[in-house]
Amino acid sequence: MRKALVAGNWKMNGDTDFINELVNSLVNSSAASVNADVLLCPPAVYLAQVSSLTAESAIQLGAQNVSEQANGAFTGEISLAMLQDLGCEYVILGHSERRSLYGENDQLVAEKFVAAVAAGVKPILCVGETLEEREQGETMQVVARQLNAVIEAAGIDKFADAVIAYEPVWAIGTGKTATPEQAQEVHAEIRQILAQNSVEIADKLRILYGGSVNAANAAELFANEDVDGGLVGGASLKANDFIAICQAAGA
Ligand code: 13P
Repeated sequence: MRKALVAGNWKMNGDTDFINELVNSLVNSSAASVNADVLLCPPAVYLAQVSSLTAESAIQLGAQNVSEQANGAFTGEISLAMLQDLGCEYVILGHSERRSLYGENDQLVAEKFVAAVAAGVKPILCVGETLEEREQGETMQVVARQLNAVIEAAGIDKFADAVIAYEPVWAIGTGKTATPEQAQEVHAEIRQILAQNSVEIADKLRILYGGSVNAANAAELFANEDVDGGLVGGASLKANDFIAICQAAGA
């Protein structure tokens, strides 16, 4: 049985006061004790703050991005060692916003994945199609290409502690959620691709759904066999909504 995971991707939101209030609410709520892993991914400059606020709780810490380089003259970049220094266990890689706005391609995402696994930070690899790709019936081709690029570069064994997030681009921040059936269909195919490489890893690996997950739709999404939790954007900035989503995952 896979333990569910709910990850809050705050994106470029929040400030010191807001984060104090939000994280204290979460730490003092049932989100900190549900039967699911709960992860917060704040902007990098607030990782230390969130790390100290969550230190006594079961809530885990993740980053939204990382450099594929180890250290050196890479102005503006943040290394895996720095993330680990601040207590990060996970890092989101290949989010569609990184791919579309910052030019990250499959190869760079694969390099980051390999570097994260080598450092012992668990990657949350994001895949997903645009609306145009879905309308042209290319959803699985796109998702398979994104996933296979990493499998080929890293090898399937490197997926042992990884997480995959299926985030249809058309559902991100739009209020348009994939139906539970649409999510399950793609998740099952992702697991099938993994199983072609290793049945054991495919069975164990958590596949999260992301894209307008909220307190009202989380339970029906998470009820699907291959949906092992969520990668939550907007709703993770509202304590009560995020708590409800964590409860749905732990139910
Ligand atoms: P929303 O939940 O705001 O749609 O964002 C989803 C997302 O991109 C999480 O990584």
